[in-house]
Amino acid sequence: MARKICFINYKGGVGKTSIIVNTAACLAKLGKRVLLFDFDTQSNSSIWLLRLERWNKINSSGEGSFFSIFEPGTAKVMDLIIKDVVEDKNGLKALPGLDLVPTTFNLVDLESEYEGDPKRPPYVVFQEQLAAIEGNYDFILFDCPPNILRASQCGVFSANEIYVPINPDALSLIGFTLLIEKLGKFHQLSASFRKASMGVPAQVQGAIFNSIKTGTDIEVPKMRMQLRMNQFRAAKRVAPTAKIFDTQIRDAMIVRRAVTLGLPVVLVSQEGPDAVGTADNVVNDYRKLATEIVRHGQ
Ligand SMILES: Nc1ncnc2c1ncn2[C@@H]1O[C@H](COP(=O)(O)OP(=O)(O)OP(=O)(O)O)[C@@H](O)[C@H]1O
Ligand SMILES: [Mg+2]
Repeated sequence: MARKICFINYKGGVGKTSIIVNTAACLAKLGKRVLLFDFDTQSNSSIWLLRLERWNKINSSGEGSFFSIFEPGTAKVMDLIIKDVVEDKNGLKALPGLDLVPTTFNLVDLESEYEGDPKRPPYVVFQEQLAAIEGNYDFILFDCPPNILRASQCGVFSANEIYVPINPDALSLIGFTLLIEKLGKFHQLSASFRKASMGVPAQVQGAIFNSIKTGTDIEVPKMRMQLRMNQFRAAKRVAPTAKIFDTQIRDAMIVRRAVTLGLPVVLVSQEGPDAVGTADNVVNDYRKLATEIVRHGQ
């Protein structure tokens, strides 16, 4: 069975997309079969992994984008998968094992204009289609916007695990608290649609500190986060095994540069001026995180 994981926080800009893209790449490098869904209208992970030229073609036609399973509703999730999505600058496959279901700007219509069948909310339509292909993967990852509206609901409803990227600031902690509240409400709202075969609703399994500047002491924000996590664990509002991940991702220019290059950092570091000779670099942070995620599920 695939492990289905949502990366989400009610705070924007904390590093959800950077962590999911780079961790997905590291998991693929470990030989895992990985499928990444982009549920954010901003399309950041789609543009990153496809680069603008390939993404523009999908955005202008709407064909092949996630929203097409709802409108016009003729496509199925399995038709939308771009296999081995990452290509090098010569158009050659650069990372076997990482597949993508891309989104485009029209996903915004799912939140307002789309009516659909009230007896079958979008997250039910999605979950049923996902069930048909999930056996083909070890990891299915959902990149969510900072909310639990309809697009995110598709991920939250189908997932078994939820990870929360955070920065060492008070606003990230507020975002985490809000997430737990909204998650509880959504699970209640969707309870009647859950089938026994889906297992229990996904709970937060962990928080991941991101963008940590060298020399910055994050002990105080970490302690506050740990306290909040302990409170939620005691109240059974997060998983019993929920933790702050040991791995934290440092702040590094290469993460921002990788977006422009259209490559996960694990591939950028193999070439050119950004190559880093020591193990002490951000690529290794992502590798460690991927390994920690693999172990957390065992
Ligand atoms: N470890 C890092 N080092 C340096 N820059 C980073 C790091 N992680 C993320 N960033 C940068 O911070 C910005 C926000 O990151 P990202 O897009 O991953 O956040 P997000 O949580 O997905 O945002 P949104 O809520 O808009 O979806 C981006 O410009 C990204 O390149
Ligand atoms: Mg994002």
